[in-house]
This record gives sequence, C-alpha cells and structure tokens, in this order.
Amino acid sequence: MGIDPPGSTNEHRDLESDMRGSIEFELTRRGVLAGTAAAVAATGMPSGVGAQEAAGPETPVMSKVSLKVNGQGHALELDARTSLLDLLREHLHLTGTKKGCDHGQCGACTVIVDGRRINACLTLAIMHEGGDVITIEGLGTPDNLHPMQAAFVKYDGYQCGYCTPGQICSAVAVLDEIKAGIPSHVGASLTEQPEATATEMRERMSGNICRCGAYSNIAEAMADVAGRTA
Ligand code: FES
Ligand code: FES
Repeated sequence: MGIDPPGSTNEHRDLESDMRGSIEFELTRRGVLAGTAAAVAATGMPSGVGAQEAAGPETPVMSKVSLKVNGQGHALELDARTSLLDLLREHLHLTGTKKGCDHGQCGACTVIVDGRRINACLTLAIMHEGGDVITIEGLGTPDNLHPMQAAFVKYDGYQCGYCTPGQICSAVAVLDEIKAGIPSHVGASLTEQPEATATEMRERMSGNICRCGAYSNIAEAMADVAGRTA
C-alpha cells in the first residue's frame, strides 16, 4: 500500500471523507443527547449530574452534642458529620489545635479526650457526648505554662510551631500512657511496665510529624519532664 504525497488528490479525498465522518458522528451524538434529554423531561426522571442539580444542596442532618472542653461545658447543635477538630476550630474558635492533613497522617490535631490522645480530625464530634476534651489552650496559660510547654520553650522544641500544639498534647499523654503501663511496640513484653526511655518516647511520638525536623529538641524536652536524659 503506497503513501499519498502531501497535497495529492487522494489525500484531499481522504480528508473530505474524514470530515464528513466527523460531522455525521457529531450530528448523531447531538441527536442521542437531545433524545436522552427529551426522554428524561418526558418521564420526569433526573439522571447523572442533572439528578444532583435537581436535588439541590444537601440538607445536613443536625445533631446535639454536649461535652466539656478545657473544663468548660458546651452544648451545641451541629451537622452530624462535623469532626471534633472542626467543632474545636470552627465552632468554639479554639484554633490552637491545628489542621494539617485532615486525614490522620500528621498528628497536628492531637488533643486529649478522657485522658487519651486522639487525632481530632479522625473522629466525629457527636461521638464524644459527655466527653472531657483538653486542647493546648487548656494545658497552661502564657503566665502559667504546663511543664511540657515550658520544656518545649527551654529546649527549643519547635521552629515554625505549626505542629507544636499537637506535639505537646501528645507528649503529655505519652508520659501518662507510660505511667499507666500501656505497652508499645518497643517494649520487651506486653506485661512489663514500660519506662520513659528515649526509644520508648520516640516510638510513641512517631505519629506526630514535624516538617521542621525539631525531633531531637522535642525528645530532650520530653526527657526533661520525665526526669531522664534524651
Ligand atoms: Fe489530623 Fe493531620 S490534621 S492527623
Ligand atoms: Fe514546624 Fe514542627 S515546628 S512543623
């Protein structure tokens, strides 16, 4: 089979035939779409994107939740899908708790609920009815810092500070976990009382990411509060 030189009569014929084909296809496609739209209009059955548009904006399901945050009681009515993080930041304006990834990957949103640290972005607010939440604002005040906050300042445990509230809440809860004998992956056995060694604390803090890389200073701050050396 030969190849037609550019500009030859055969090439023009091929182009004309291709264009006719495209126009016919376009007409056919338009016809199909018009026919579908007419059918939908006739039956009153919305379809695809049109269905979403017809339904209008989603109506949130509202739920009530009462909980304590930093010692203060709150009773709120929220969209049931509100995360604990959004309750704190958007409804109570406690913006010390940070939203990093919003997917449970960075630890920036760590708060303490009923004595245990959790990622506030991964839990719904309505799951904490009657809960007792402590955020960075509830740990200490600028004039009366929590010992962990003071240690972070002393050991320069931050650079930009974005991860710091989560790091501090996590660090406080980590020392409580160790005291309570909760095992970790680095312990010799599940029944042995864990100790606040550097390895133990680093393992337990591994869910709190610091893009500035202040890890060594954070470890020193924690060790100081735990009465050890990092
Ligand atoms: Fe919650 Fe990153 S914002 S873990
Ligand atoms: Fe900047 Fe940790 S101090 S991310």
